[in-house]
Amino acid sequence: MGENMNKNLRKAVIAGNWKMNKTRGEAAAIISALKPLASGANCDVVICVPFTALETAVEAVKGTAIKVGAQNVHFEANGAYTGEISAAMLKDIGAEYAIIGHSERRQYFGETDETVNLRTKAALNAGLIPITCVGELLSERQAGITEEVVSRQVKLAFAEIDAAQAAKVIVAYEPVWAIGTGETATAEQAQDACKLIRDRLCGLYGKEISDSITIQYGGSMNPKNAAELLAKTDVDGGLIGGASLKAEDFGVIIGAAN
Ligand code: PGA
Repeated sequence: MGENMNKNLRKAVIAGNWKMNKTRGEAAAIISALKPLASGANCDVVICVPFTALETAVEAVKGTAIKVGAQNVHFEANGAYTGEISAAMLKDIGAEYAIIGHSERRQYFGETDETVNLRTKAALNAGLIPITCVGELLSERQAGITEEVVSRQVKLAFAEIDAAQAAKVIVAYEPVWAIGTGETATAEQAQDACKLIRDRLCGLYGKEISDSITIQYGGSMNPKNAAELLAKTDVDGGLIGGASLKAEDFGVIIGAAN
């Protein structure tokens, strides 16, 4: 019972990760369909859209509680980094969140634990809320080293981040084998990993801070499985890919967090 009271300390955050999908016109259409479904939500609702749709999304959510985020952020403030976008640029356009270290960035774009840490710090320093992702590969789970991998990712992601800043971070646990595969972690697997992350954060910052940090589950979360996952003590929300691309599905997941 004590543990469930701790869950009440944290507001659920349901975040959509649109990945490389949707033009500006498509973004405006899905947001207008989402608005009535998200109104009255008892959780924070965030949509993380492609850079090119940020301005459209920020405009479209005006007057609603829906927040807008990016899917990556560079760690330097400015300079000769062709193709990159800084945290200050995201703030300037009205983004409030940034996904950091998503497994697709780790897999295809050379993201490392060190750059995840640099990006998380850059986001915090600019006043963006980082959604910092961790999670093991299938081979790592099969080798029985999930705890070791996730513990290392958490420790390195939070290096040199003080308690006050750490309290602002959202951590997303995304087992790589469950992303876009239709294969969801069981609610127990999600709970175990989110609890492990909270224990590691407790070791770094103490219980008061670790109890206040939002930890999401991500990986094939959908309208059917969301309620069971979100009911778990240490699962404080979801990072949703595929099912965030349809307003109706995303709306059901938002409802499941209430
Ligand atoms: P998925 O993606 O919901 O399509 O599995 C989740 C994510 O990658 O954040």
